[in-house]
Amino acid sequence: MYSDPTVYDILHTPGTSEEVDTYLWIVSKHLQLNKSLKWLEPACGTGRCLRLLAQRGYYVAGFDIDQEMIRYSKNSGLACELFEADMIDFNSQLQCKFDIAFNPFNSIRHLHSDEAMLKHLEQVSQSLNTGGLYLVGISLSDYDNDVPEEDIWTGSRDDCKVTQVVNYLPPDQISRLETVISHILVENKDEHINETYKLRSYNKLEWTELVANSPFEVVGSYDSLGIQAGSRKLIYQIEVLRTI
Ligand SMILES: C[S@@+](CC[C@H](N)C(=O)[O-])C[C@H]1O[C@@H](n2cnc3c(N)ncnc32)[C@H](O)[C@@H]1O
Repeated sequence: MYSDPTVYDILHTPGTSEEVDTYLWIVSKHLQLNKSLKWLEPACGTGRCLRLLAQRGYYVAGFDIDQEMIRYSKNSGLACELFEADMIDFNSQLQCKFDIAFNPFNSIRHLHSDEAMLKHLEQVSQSLNTGGLYLVGISLSDYDNDVPEEDIWTGSRDDCKVTQVVNYLPPDQISRLETVISHILVENKDEHINETYKLRSYNKLEWTELVANSPFEVVGSYDSLGIQAGSRKLIYQIEVLRTI
């Protein structure tokens, strides 16, 4: 699905420091921020966020379903608990409990049913200390008004320049699956990588109902800069969940 971890990391590492600042800011609104806090990232990919949190002195751990992503994150010098696991079954591999779990970039929507999502949320709640938080980055649907969208990402490292064009085809409320079509060009190799995958959709009500059936409650909603969402309709939001 994310075929080349190096290409993923080149594209998505820029801006990660500011992104991590935002998570720290949001967490500080709900918890006493201190360096003893332990962070867990389900679906951590190449570990781009975990690397920065570790550099800032936090204990971190992560896992991903993709063996190549985990290999990349280990080779990048990230010395922490890193292992291969599915978001619906990872708890038994953790060595301790955490204060904060976080899951940006809509990765949670790779789980395609309520059953899988509830299993995931149950596992995350069991991995957190009392009062722990789960920050979930998610784009919510508005089925009647969603239109096709396009994102363009660019990045470069050494002599490698990469461009990614991603098209999102809106889901309908029956299938609840958004189609994501990605085209990547690796310029120095003239290599083209095409991928298509599906993400489960949630409108506001579906998301609220799902969380209501889980061990969590929503205690905050923020935009990608860490500003409270209020009544604004956002393209992407960071939901802060706390165990009940
Ligand atoms: C958009 S990437 C995000 C990676 C990382 N969280 C970041 O912010 O850069 C989505 C990641 O989810 C992982 N993934 C997809 N389905 C998964 C599952 N069921 N369990 C664990 N990881 C999964 C993919 O392998 C990929 O690394």
